[in-house]
Amino acid sequence: MTILSLEHVHLVREGRHILNDLSMDIWQGHVHAIIGPNGAGKSTIANTIMGLTGYRDITGDIRFEGESITNLSVSERAKRGITLVFQEPARFEGLPVMSFVLAGAREKTRAVFDKSLIMVGLDPDKYRSRAVDRTLSGGERKRIELASVYAMQPRLVIMDEPDSGVDIDSIPYIFEVIQELRQSGTTVMLITHSPEVLRQADHAFLVCAGRLVDKGSMQRMYNYFNGRCVPCSHVGCPDRELEEIPAFTNLEMQAGLEAANVRADKEVRNG
Ligand SMILES: Nc1ncnc2c1ncn2[C@@H]1O[C@H](COP(=O)(O)OP(=O)(O)OP(=O)(O)O)[C@@H](O)[C@H]1O
Ligand SMILES: [Mg+2]
Repeated sequence: MTILSLEHVHLVREGRHILNDLSMDIWQGHVHAIIGPNGAGKSTIANTIMGLTGYRDITGDIRFEGESITNLSVSERAKRGITLVFQEPARFEGLPVMSFVLAGAREKTRAVFDKSLIMVGLDPDKYRSRAVDRTLSGGERKRIELASVYAMQPRLVIMDEPDSGVDIDSIPYIFEVIQELRQSGTTVMLITHSPEVLRQADHAFLVCAGRLVDKGSMQRMYNYFNGRCVPCSHVGCPDRELEEIPAFTNLEMQAGLEAANVRADKEVRNG
């Protein structure tokens, strides 16, 4: 069953189509990945689904649990159970870690706090009396943010680059949270350009230049992404398959096409 759908979404910024006729169905209870190179539009998709300022002025429709949410505010979307974990961990300077983690939780108990911190590999006793401030490392902040999502058990969580700024030893904890959330019925959208994060998903959407290039099972998209997008030799040209790419630039290709048109024109005129 579809929990969230994007229907022909366009977002124009500074004369550019950052999202270009984007349609996607997110199935309830699954882990989906949105993959694509730097600048593909992945964070923009997350911000647009969440309805952040600067990302509200779209054409097309976004539907959540059967209803359009396109005109709803961020807080109205959050109330419906949509949450976003930012690429850069948010700063809520000074808020006690415990209040932060339990902010969206139905049960605001010490037991839920402890369980959520343990889930992300942090010792609850060490963080209970600390604040979300500059004394936390970037990785700790990211993990505490994930602990808050675990405590919240949202309907849909979008995680923008959940592994960014996290040390390699902590990444398995993040993956565990993703799988635990799925087990408890949360739908997860992972935004990533990491093949390892992609492996946590069931399905993936490949985005390039704000457009959907392909979608399918994680394994198929993993092979596609690893083979063709990492590294990418034609950034921002999602229509061009790797084997089709000639050894000349777009400008040269354009010039070649124009020359061919002139030739064809002459041939027609000369009979
Ligand atoms: N509010 C905005 N105004 C103008 N341009 C924007 C805005 N938001 C995003 N962009 C542009 O849209 C494109 C997509 O950006 P986005 O942050 O979504 O990419 P991304 O796929 O998340 O990349 P990365 O992997 O580097 O995080 C970029 O060229 C970016 O500069
Ligand atoms: Mg991004």
